[in-house]
Amino acid sequence: PELVVVDTDPGTDDALALYMLLAADERKMVKLLAVTIVDGNTNADHGSRNALRVLKSVDRLEIPVYKGSPGPIILEPVPKDKSRVTHAGYHGEDGFGGAKFDKEPEMGLLQDETAVLALIKLAKEHKGKLNLLCLGPLTNVALAMKADPEFASNVKNVFIMGGNTAAVGNATSTAEFNFLHDPEAAHIVLASAQSHITLVPWETCQAHGLPYKWRTEDFGSAQTKQVELLNKIEAAVIEKSKNPTWIPCDSFITAAFIDPSIVKKLDVRHLTIELHGHRTRGQVVIDHLRECDDNVKVAKEIDLEKFKQLMYMAVDHPHCT
Ligand code: BDR
Ligand code: CA
Repeated sequence: PELVVVDTDPGTDDALALYMLLAADERKMVKLLAVTIVDGNTNADHGSRNALRVLKSVDRLEIPVYKGSPGPIILEPVPKDKSRVTHAGYHGEDGFGGAKFDKEPEMGLLQDETAVLALIKLAKEHKGKLNLLCLGPLTNVALAMKADPEFASNVKNVFIMGGNTAAVGNATSTAEFNFLHDPEAAHIVLASAQSHITLVPWETCQAHGLPYKWRTEDFGSAQTKQVELLNKIEAAVIEKSKNPTWIPCDSFITAAFIDPSIVKKLDVRHLTIELHGHRTRGQVVIDHLRECDDNVKVAKEIDLEKFKQLMYMAVDHPHCT
């Protein structure tokens, strides 16, 4: 099976993505070596607790969790920054929609080592074989690249949910949340020539949203531990959502990693990111003139039926075939 470390900022869709990986790991489709936490949807403390909650809910606490960077490499998000507010608005300040839990996971279960060092160590140990699945801002990964010049070439493939390809944003008009939260980090990762990147941008997520009715009455009706946790942490967002569709962004890239045949259309391009624009900071810039070497495989179309099967599998849903 493919080896993977997931770098994540849980986050409600991150939680579902974690369940997808755990289910795939159980079936020996992939091997999940570690979870590294980054600041993003919520801070790294809440994010770490949330990851432990997910692992604990399915008795998988043997998978190590490493807490990572407490914030972006250069610019801290301004508290009243609209992008920040938007996503706290979606995932809740604590990342898990303010849900109440009877038992809290033991925070002492977190590893002592920080995420960046763990990433460097694991990539060295599994040289050429370790995949990275990135579900949050790219701070940890970029820092690992800067700290160890061999990190990028030690890693096999990098799978990223983030950015956009038609200037459509979900955090600002022109930027996607993960890339906007730490644009310098995204710049470092996109510029690292050795990495083989597959990207699911915001527009691809938006084009593959599923009806909320399916989320609640089909997927969300299963009586399983995983669905119980997901329903709890998404209750607030399901209730207040103005969007007709449910868009579990991080699950799309996770599915593309677990089963690459889920991606029906790929576009190979050179991508970079705008760092200075007053209104466009964080927006992905595509080399339409084709002057630079391609660096990213952009997933444009997803096979939704296969995708649903992986989600059913993630939560032990009776519809899982
Ligand atoms: C991304 O931002 C977060 O809200 C999600 O977890 C996902 O990683 C979508 O823009
Ligand atoms: Ca995320």
